[in-house]
Amino acid sequence: MDEKKRMLSGIQPSGDLHLGNYLGAIRNWAERAETFDCYYFMADLHTITVRQTPADLRRRTLEQLAQYIACGLDPEKNTLFVQSHVHQHAELGWVLNCYTMFGELSRMTQFKDKSAKNAENINGGLFTYPALMAADILLYQPDFVPVGEDQKQHVELCRDVANRFNGIYGDVFKVPEPFIPEVGARVMSLGTPENKMSKSDPAGCVFLMDKPEDILRKFKRAVTDCDTERCVRYAPDEKPGVANLMGIYAAVTGMDYAAVEREFEGQGYGAFKPRVGEAVVECLRPIREETTRLLADKGYLESVYRAGAERAGYMAEKTLRKVYKKVGFLAR
Ligand code: TRP
Repeated sequence: MDEKKRMLSGIQPSGDLHLGNYLGAIRNWAERAETFDCYYFMADLHTITVRQTPADLRRRTLEQLAQYIACGLDPEKNTLFVQSHVHQHAELGWVLNCYTMFGELSRMTQFKDKSAKNAENINGGLFTYPALMAADILLYQPDFVPVGEDQKQHVELCRDVANRFNGIYGDVFKVPEPFIPEVGARVMSLGTPENKMSKSDPAGCVFLMDKPEDILRKFKRAVTDCDTERCVRYAPDEKPGVANLMGIYAAVTGMDYAAVEREFEGQGYGAFKPRVGEAVVECLRPIREETTRLLADKGYLESVYRAGAERAGYMAEKTLRKVYKKVGFLAR
């Protein structure tokens, strides 16, 4: 069997998944398994850098697993697991903390943003989070780490830490490349189309588990623009709201912008917005139904995350052993 390149990514179960997550990322993951050996984990250890409600965290962790499967990630072809189930993450995280510099961590823009937003809880974990993320990655010796633009700085830091460690102890870690995914629509908020769609702005955000009537209502209320022409034309600078709706419609129907313009020629936004809503409802319906079905089958989900943790743990342990030996810990 020829070796596939390995890919790994973590997703924080800190909010319910939404249309932006789906069209921007998850939708493209299923086919990746043909080319890559893929690992995806729920980064629950990372979520507690910000205060979480325990019951919600537990529910979302399981729900996200169900949603990934419902979105087409086949657990037979991908390794799906929960970060806290593989204790090697926390262990390597500690080691790498000692090879990550205060100055490097201080430069992380996400730390600066999050500490500004959570001024009452600027904890040590929030600061050293990139060292844990480096551990998440390096345990599995992946070739690529698919991340959004916002995580690129953390992957760069991970590479620096890996190189530093390898420089001292020889080739222990594979130094991974960030992989900023190919296509993927950038979905903006329905209420404030200047901003990315985000769970922190629920009115402008369509969640994968939203009921059809809620989705339709959110689209009917979507901000378009206040120009006088009132026509469906792709002009992102002049008409960001319309461009966003067109982008969503194009992404869920597979049409291009010219075809969308033709379909709505001569019609105002009153016809356009509900039609986009309906198309989104149809796109999300099978995902919501399948997620609901899976969530009713806890035994199956358990078998998936157990098998995932087993596979992941096997690989992680190999790397951790090597690291412990290199730094001089006495073998048990
Ligand atoms: N930090 C990532 C985020 O907030 C999640 C994450 C944790 C991650 N560990 C990772 C992503 C390892 C890629 C690889 O989105």
